[in-house]
Amino acid sequence: MRIAISTGGGDAPGLNAVIRAVVLSAHQRGWQCFGIRRGYDGLYRRGGAHTFAYAKPYDGPDRRRGEPRGGLVALGPDQVRGITHLGGTILGTTNRGNPFRWPTLLPDGTVQEIDRSDELVEAFKARRLDALVAIGGDGSLSIAHGLWQKGIPVVGVPKTIDNDVVGTESTFGFDTAVATATEALDKLHTTAESHDRVMVVELMGRYAGWIALHSGLSGSADVILIPEIPFDIEKVCEKIRARELAGRNFSIVVAAEGARPKDGKVELLEEAKKGSVERLGGIASRIAAAITERTGKETRSLVLGHLQRGGSPTTFDRLLALRFGSAAVRAIGEGAFGTVVVFTPPTVSRRPITDIMGKQKVVPLDSGIILTARNLGISFGD
Ligand code: F6P
Repeated sequence: MRIAISTGGGDAPGLNAVIRAVVLSAHQRGWQCFGIRRGYDGLYRRGGAHTFAYAKPYDGPDRRRGEPRGGLVALGPDQVRGITHLGGTILGTTNRGNPFRWPTLLPDGTVQEIDRSDELVEAFKARRLDALVAIGGDGSLSIAHGLWQKGIPVVGVPKTIDNDVVGTESTFGFDTAVATATEALDKLHTTAESHDRVMVVELMGRYAGWIALHSGLSGSADVILIPEIPFDIEKVCEKIRARELAGRNFSIVVAAEGARPKDGKVELLEEAKKGSVERLGGIASRIAAAITERTGKETRSLVLGHLQRGGSPTTFDRLLALRFGSAAVRAIGEGAFGTVVVFTPPTVSRRPITDIMGKQKVVPLDSGIILTARNLGISFGD
């Protein structure tokens, strides 16, 4: 067996742990593993008719590992030694490399999405690969499904710090992101209290508020704003005023980047364009300005951003990632292709990719965590 591994979409702490678990579990069975560089980029021939439309990262040799960046990398026990605790992915990744909608720069300067999936399938076969472990979020799993339909034996592994993949209790990377965000909230408390200020913190979570909810509750936020509960800015200010009356002259407001006012839209940094999705951002500074205007309180905002995607995975994420990696190899051993490994506590099980792709696991409004937060007096701005 020759198994290819790809990491696609935004990185998440735990990717390297999955890679290591796949490689070591496969090695035990006498199978060989190959990492595809940067999503599926590594399977494409260099040059040719397709010029990638957007700015790309450095494409020269990878000095750290002394290998060319493009292509396939043979992965054995030596290549995955000591990487379980490392953030990022040793294979590189991209969230702009959908083989079915490859953004190509045409000679007239326009950008067109070209379906390059057949080229990818041919390259997969030409390299005599027998199975693909596709590690990614919803977007990458949808791509994996498309490749499965084109005859590539695929097993998916769900990843995202946003925790918005359906069918799995958790994705790896989420717990680490929550820990990072909670630590940031702890640090903001002391400065907010010293200055009698309101601090508004923007956390990741485009369409689901899991990170904001879990870290906001754990980090004792006073207000938590999530995409699932459109907020009324006046209710947010009411909470801040009520705290003042009670002698608490500072407040911490946590907002998921996808939070939006009842009568408004999400804040965008960049509209969706060919081959890439919209980029959200800016809600914290909007909220901060509105709070100052309505309450007269000195307010500061910050965006925690990609810090949430970095760092060493927590023990929980490492364990989950290692379990997912070995479960993916067991799935290959049993010929269970077209599936995704999922965490269904206490076990890791499998679901068909079709059950998962194109859907989003948002925070249920009757969630116990929301209930707990409300019982503790935290406002959701509703
Ligand atoms: O999906 C993971 C995620 O971190 C989102 O929370 C965030 O909106 C997005 O990726 C950011 O993507 P990029 O790395 O392209 O800025």
